[in-house]
Amino acid sequence: MTSAVESIEAPDVPVLDEAGRALLFTEARTGNAFADTPVSDEQLAAIWELTRWAPTSANLQPLRVTFVRTPEGKERLLPLMSEGNRVKTASAPVTAILAVDSRFHEHAPTLLPIRPQMRDALEADEATRSAMAQVNGPLQAGYFILAIRAQGLVAGPMAGFDAAAIDAEFFPDGRWKSLLVINIGHPGENPWFDRLPRLDPADVIRWA
Ligand SMILES: Cc1cc2nc3c(=O)[nH]c(=O)nc-3n(C[C@H](O)[C@H](O)[C@H](O)COP(=O)(O)O)c2cc1C
Repeated sequence: MTSAVESIEAPDVPVLDEAGRALLFTEARTGNAFADTPVSDEQLAAIWELTRWAPTSANLQPLRVTFVRTPEGKERLLPLMSEGNRVKTASAPVTAILAVDSRFHEHAPTLLPIRPQMRDALEADEATRSAMAQVNGPLQAGYFILAIRAQGLVAGPMAGFDAAAIDAEFFPDGRWKSLLVINIGHPGENPWFDRLPRLDPADVIRWA
């Protein structure tokens, strides 16, 4: 006699191979100098196409992206980066400004149709809204970095920029708030800094 539990077939979830793990994690590096090789709008669209499937709380997806890829756009952005980030940002064919939409909850009826009342609940609760943005914006930014790598490109994330100045220049209506700026491209000359150590698992992991 087979029990109900035994008769449930677990779906086969594939495992990423070594080459995929190396591309996304173990061999991937942060880019500090970029080649002239262009990055197409199709490649940038493909990065977002991967990013958008990764999970967020209540599926509310607060991250927004501005791809700066024209000389005029770069001219607006460069003076707003920290001095140490300007040369590398100038060398990158594309720089993405990642921002959080402070009114992300307006999309709740579409994104979470089983609980459309989330929109009004979050409209009335600024603290929860802000806490959700604080968790899910950076989470989606992390997914975005991995998606850049999955696309065969190099990411150079930077927190060193004048956030208030970027918001005033690129998001003057005040709705989007900048979170992280990321250079995207192919490695140029001397693109990597020395590899820094990672914490030992024993210093990080506890078991319960
Ligand atoms: C959120 C974040 C902010 C960062 N800000 C800067 C920055 O402002 N300037 C810079 O040169 N590197 C910045 N970095 C790059 C990190 O120093 C780099 O990713 C880290 O040392 C790992 O390097 P690796 O991928 O080559 O091992 C930042 C990285 C992250 C993830």
